[in-house]
Amino acid sequence: MIREKVVVITGASSGIGQAAALRLANDGAKVVLTARRTERLIQTVHEIIEKGGEARYLAADVTSKADMQNVADFTVENYGRIDVWVNNAGLMPLSYLNKRKIDEWETMIDVNIKGVLYGIAAAVPVMERQQSGHIINISSVAGHRVGMGGAVYSGTKFAVRAITEGLRMELSPTSNIRATIISPGMVETELLTTITDEDALNALKARAASKALRSEDIANAIAYAIDQPEWASVNEIVIRPTTQPS
Ligand SMILES: NC(=O)c1ccc[n+]([C@@H]2O[C@H](COP(=O)([O-])OP(=O)(O)OC[C@H]3O[C@@H](n4cnc5c(N)ncnc54)[C@H](OP(=O)(O)O)[C@@H]3O)[C@@H](O)[C@H]2O)c1
Repeated sequence: MIREKVVVITGASSGIGQAAALRLANDGAKVVLTARRTERLIQTVHEIIEKGGEARYLAADVTSKADMQNVADFTVENYGRIDVWVNNAGLMPLSYLNKRKIDEWETMIDVNIKGVLYGIAAAVPVMERQQSGHIINISSVAGHRVGMGGAVYSGTKFAVRAITEGLRMELSPTSNIRATIISPGMVETELLTTITDEDALNALKARAASKALRSEDIANAIAYAIDQPEWASVNEIVIRPTTQPS
């Protein structure tokens, strides 16, 4: 059941995170949106409230442990619990390794891996106290296979899958915490704007699907995982555009 669940979503200012916030609020969840671009968060919260839903926002950077802890504290202060935490924030500055875009490698590791870990660190103590909860981590088809220019990005998304599987094994039996990996193929969002290496961008375009997924398609997958009965833990959903070959 989604209704009345308290759901935190990182990276909720655009793309998949924003679509998930709108979808889950429409299904009756109480949603806490977080990201760095406050104006975008405010717009989406207004949209949800205008439609009769329940939502709040808090600006936060997932690379900050303190910010993630603030989001958890804010959620508990406002809604008393955390039922679902969606680690969605991510970047994809693809590049060939010999371009030595070391700063971009570090940003990807900080946001895509450490951001997920900081989210887990903030949410799990609350869920252990509740003896229930659900962590949903957004990986990628790139967490299953490596494309040219995607070595570091894929590395971060393989890591997200490994971390989520470890979390499931360690915490599900003792704390009743469900763990879900969502691995999308190509989705039409702002993610490509983070690519500064033209060669990597061209390689990506060459293997792109003729029709990408919409953010709402991934929001549907997130909603499906949450909506299952408490005893059923959907561990991974891989969702590609029909025309995406690999
Ligand atoms: N689009 C695809 O084809 C695709 C495919 C597979 C997986 N994914 C994954 O899906 C997730 C969402 O991406 P998207 O496609 O929806 O792209 P997007 O529209 O660019 O959204 C990325 C979100 O991450 C947030 N973010 C980035 N850095 C952050 C930071 N340091 N702290 C807090 N928030 C941060 C952004 O918010 P602010 O800039 O406002 O902070 C934004 O809300 C990512 O993990 C991505 O890797 C996407």
